[in-house]
Amino acid sequence: MNHKLRTWKLSDIESIVKHANNYNVAKWLTNQFPYPYDKKDAEIYINSVFDSLQKVFAIEVNDEAVGSIGIFPQSDIHEKSAEKGYWLSEKYWRNNIMPKAIAEIVDYGFKTFDIVCIYARPFSSNKGSQRVLEKAEFKLEARLKKALYKNGECQISSLIKSSGTSLSKVTRFHKGVLKSVSVISFYTSH
Ligand SMILES: CC(C)(COP(=O)(O)OP(=O)(O)OC[C@H]1O[C@@H](n2cnc3c(N)ncnc32)[C@H](O)[C@@H]1OP(=O)(O)O)[C@@H](O)C(=O)NCCC(=O)NCCS
Repeated sequence: MNHKLRTWKLSDIESIVKHANNYNVAKWLTNQFPYPYDKKDAEIYINSVFDSLQKVFAIEVNDEAVGSIGIFPQSDIHEKSAEKGYWLSEKYWRNNIMPKAIAEIVDYGFKTFDIVCIYARPFSSNKGSQRVLEKAEFKLEARLKKALYKNGECQISSLIKSSGTSLSKVTRFHKGVLKSVSVISFYTSH
């Protein structure tokens, strides 16, 4: 099935409500993506997207915006990383749209921003999202226990990364400016 990535338009509000108002989509996303999802929520979303121009794109299928994908460069000591977020209308699931959209946004992200890694942090129970990342050649790097809280319970988050797509940037980063730095995380929990 064909799709294209494009910038969001005010006229997309109706189609956002139509496709985003779905618990099966919302349950895997942050609380900024509510369920039920009404016109006011879509307006807030469109405004937030306009504040993040060049970072969030509509996924268009059959001339209609049916999903979203965004890339968010981080700051401070995380400035060489970008987080990726995405959702697609349930009507279009399992058509291989998101793996292709992810490949496009990864390519765009490495070309546009001065970053060396792009990551996603799906719930560990979100097998569909993990499969999509695997299809887009991301690698599972860590499982972060009790990292996320949703629907009344703490959940495990999978940290999944891509850093191999733009070899020139990785090499430049290693040779020119900084050495690669790994993070070891210690934690205690109950
Ligand atoms: C996850 C999502 C983006 C997938 O997009 P998509 O365009 O349907 O992706 P695909 O066409 O590759 O299909 C999903 C893949 O995951 C697999 N999959 C889906 N649900 C699965 C499950 N519960 N267990 C195992 N595999 C599953 C499918 O079989 C398919 O893999 P395959 O092509 O090898 O058969 C879409 O389902 C979605 O928007 N979900 C809700 C929001 C969300 O989870 N966003 C990501 C937050 S991190």
